[in-house]
Amino acid sequence: MSAANTDFNDRMLSLGLARVAEQAAIASASLIGRGDEKAADQAAVNAMREQLNLLDIAGVVVIGEGERDEAPMLYIGEEVGTGNGPGVDIALDPLEGTTLTAKDMPNALTVIAMGPRGSMLHAPDVYMDKLAIGPGFPEGVISLDMSPAQRVEALADAKGCKTTDITVCILERPRHQEMIDAVRGTGASIRLITDGDVAGVMHCAEAETTGIDMYMGQGGAPEGVLAAAALKCMGGQIFGRLLFRNDDERGRAEKAGITDLDRVYTRDEMVTADVIFAATGVTGGSLLPRIKRVPGWVETTTLLMRSKTGSVRRMSYRTPV
Ligand code: FBP
Repeated sequence: MSAANTDFNDRMLSLGLARVAEQAAIASASLIGRGDEKAADQAAVNAMREQLNLLDIAGVVVIGEGERDEAPMLYIGEEVGTGNGPGVDIALDPLEGTTLTAKDMPNALTVIAMGPRGSMLHAPDVYMDKLAIGPGFPEGVISLDMSPAQRVEALADAKGCKTTDITVCILERPRHQEMIDAVRGTGASIRLITDGDVAGVMHCAEAETTGIDMYMGQGGAPEGVLAAAALKCMGGQIFGRLLFRNDDERGRAEKAGITDLDRVYTRDEMVTADVIFAATGVTGGSLLPRIKRVPGWVETTTLLMRSKTGSVRRMSYRTPV
């Protein structure tokens, strides 16, 4: 049987995926708080690639470190794995929050998702307008076409609470100032983050623990697909619309096979089949604890999830170093 015809055995592959996320985090651990984003990212990239290549998969990176001419490793289209096993698509961000890591600020993660071939949107490296909420709400209760204030009001209605009881997570950027003012105008509270919108979106799926009900704003499109993969496992809704600033960016979309540039993607349109997802905490925060480094050993915590079963594991791993 050819590799691509072998079943995507998500149950068996999930532990291997956790190892990939763990090793990337361990590799970047000694670079937390050292002020060198590039070195931290490179360490995570090298380790993630090395571990991925040990897995019995015929993998293709669909969301990666960039186009082939920009990224020497884990570039879009790179084949990974031993080649003996199922044909799979891989979306990854070896270090989501390079600046968070360099500055030792919360919620830097290593992130990877895997699914059968063709399961994930080949999002080009452009911005995406994103809107997300956690599970338990009727489909389409909020939409990207609503104003920021309408989104808050619609969610408060659906939750049966006041707008002042809603907390929205937004990336702190000048481009979001109007949105921030509009959300504040409803009386809702805002948790501003300086980076890391995959974690930002994932916070919505565990609103009771994290205190965040909704995520909105513009961030990287690749991170949008990773966040969609996470919510496919955890439950919740995410909507994304690609944003193009120039012809080069429109060209990237064309290269990725995207023809309708204004399309709003739902979670299940960004991730069309069951996937597995792993994220390991690097600096730690409201989702995952940070890496613990003690002379002689290191300890990580990894969130490992399967959308097919909705299973969510938090696995701690301790190893001598
Ligand atoms: P890196 O980890 O690659 O630095 O990305 C961090 C991030 O904050 C993402 O989470 C987010 O989607 C994107 O950058 C936002 O982009 P920008 O900094 O250009 O606003």
